[in-house]
Amino acid sequence: MSIERIRSLIAPDMGRVDTVIREKLHSEVVLIRQVSEYIINSGGKRLRPALVILSAGAFGYTGQYHYNLAAIVEFIHTATLLHDDVVDASELRRSKATANALFGNAASVLVGDFLYSRAFQMMVEVDNMRVMRVLADATNTIAEGEVLQLLNVRDPDVDEENYLRVIRYKTAKLFEAATRLGAILGNASPAEEEAMAVYGMHLGTAFQLTDDMLDYSGDYQETGKNLGDDLAEGKPTLPLIYAMKTGSGAQAQIIRSAIERGGEGGFQPVLEVIQQTGALDYARQRAQAESETASNMISSLPDSDYKQCLLDLSTFAVARNH
Ligand code: IPE
Ligand code: IPE
Ligand code: MG
Ligand code: MG
Repeated sequence: MSIERIRSLIAPDMGRVDTVIREKLHSEVVLIRQVSEYIINSGGKRLRPALVILSAGAFGYTGQYHYNLAAIVEFIHTATLLHDDVVDASELRRSKATANALFGNAASVLVGDFLYSRAFQMMVEVDNMRVMRVLADATNTIAEGEVLQLLNVRDPDVDEENYLRVIRYKTAKLFEAATRLGAILGNASPAEEEAMAVYGMHLGTAFQLTDDMLDYSGDYQETGKNLGDDLAEGKPTLPLIYAMKTGSGAQAQIIRSAIERGGEGGFQPVLEVIQQTGALDYARQRAQAESETASNMISSLPDSDYKQCLLDLSTFAVARNH
């Protein structure tokens, strides 16, 4: 499966989404244009807007609002990235210097606020209360997720359940919103809408589980992000949680103190324990299970190229290296 097949099916639609994105980035304030165009033009997989387009398509939607909603979802995503890279002190994203590295933390935070509020202006234009509720709730939950994660930093006692809650909130919720919005536009039945939302939620969970593995096992040239950022920050992600739980006393101690000291002591000893305990295999299995649950949720949708792409995306969420 390749993401190229998905891209080619929806290329014209994604072109329309990009047009909306470009129009709506406009501001009289030069710094806003500089920062927002810098991050938006640096690429990104545009997965969440693709989910809006595919989900609406799967229900035979033929209107125009999915372009706006897709752009809104990408704006929210981009705002979270601007803020996230400040909080995570990250220096590389999309194979380029992060906006905070280039323009400073203050500019990143404030332009993130601009993108959030622009997204809310665009929502109002759609003039649909259900759509507004989905997006307002998702945005609020993402913020809760990022704050919950902040509370977990440098805490080696965070368990798998707590970790999963963070990733459902900070990441999966926006995937869920994207697929739910497509279903709403396509006039899905309440049961179908719920199935699409649950699909998105599990897909997003698989996606973040994989992201957290790639922070230990990826290649920065493929992910476009530096490896080891999570450890440097003392983020207790699943590979670490599992390694502590199943490793020997000595192995667990290496991970505990690395989390407590924000990676001081180096990446290599931690990576060795992760490898010795099979922690990445475990995380991959968990991601795989989420991906399968996602696929099962949409098995009863009528067959279409859109449905096939949604199924392909759930494979991609785990198999990806970028
Ligand atoms: C990055 O998301 C943030 C996570 C939820 C892991 P993506 O990997 O979708 O980022 P871009 O938009 O493609 O750069
Ligand atoms: C995802 O978390 C960030 C948001 C959902 C805002 P990460 O911190 O793992 O994302 P990356 O690795 O920086 O892209
Ligand atoms: Mg980050
Ligand atoms: Mg990450």
